[in-house]
Amino acid sequence: MCTSVTTNPTISVREANQGDLPSITEIYAYHVLNGTASFEIIPPGLDEMSRRWDRICERGLPYLVAGSRSGLLGYAYAGPYHARPAYRWTLENSIYVAQEARRQGVGRALLEQLLVRCTTLGYRQMVAVIGDSRNGASIGLHRRCGFVETGVLRAVGFKFGGWLDSVFMQRALGDGDATAVTLPP
Ligand SMILES: CC(C)(COP(=O)(O)OP(=O)(O)OC[C@H]1O[C@@H](n2cnc3c(N)ncnc32)[C@H](O)[C@@H]1OP(=O)(O)O)[C@@H](O)C(=O)NCCC(=O)NCCS
Repeated sequence: MCTSVTTNPTISVREANQGDLPSITEIYAYHVLNGTASFEIIPPGLDEMSRRWDRICERGLPYLVAGSRSGLLGYAYAGPYHARPAYRWTLENSIYVAQEARRQGVGRALLEQLLVRCTTLGYRQMVAVIGDSRNGASIGLHRRCGFVETGVLRAVGFKFGGWLDSVFMQRALGDGDATAVTLPP
């Protein structure tokens, strides 16, 4: 799925379950408090993260975790890009890796699996909305997995005393726009 396949064999990826939510909440809280990937300022608690997980699962969309023998290392999910019905074949992804597990292939293992599952489900486009232009890790990861940069919204966020961009990247899934879709009944 990515440009070459050398995913770290010590990392396993599976569907998230309720028992993973405390670790997921902790990983996300770190990135909310210390980074600009998320434009949230106050980390959501376990109840809110559970509600968000439920909403993804209710739609039959993938919510994945990556782990190794040392525990849960990261998570990723795909949600609707926008609610209006014509957008229904397009998803937006989110990926967060525990700070101490970064740059070991966890993000890539998660994104590869997410792409496979969303393609199998019949979706046609995946969009990444990346905060911010200086997020070389996220831009690099998405590029590595076949996403291309499609635009930048300048200074649409303000966090830690500075203005933040949103970088849009996009990747076709399956047939992309080469064929029409048959709408579900
Ligand atoms: C972005 C993030 C998910 C990447 O996960 P990761 O596990 O560290 O990345 P991986 O080790 O799987 O790296 C995969 C590829 O991404 C790119 N990459 C990862 N970290 C990078 C960095 N710091 N600088 C440049 N490229 C990077 C590389 O192309 C890498 O492939 P390579 O190691 O073969 O060169 C992780 O850094 C993270 O959680 N960041 C904070 C939250 C965030 O930005 N999430 C994305 C929201 S859209």
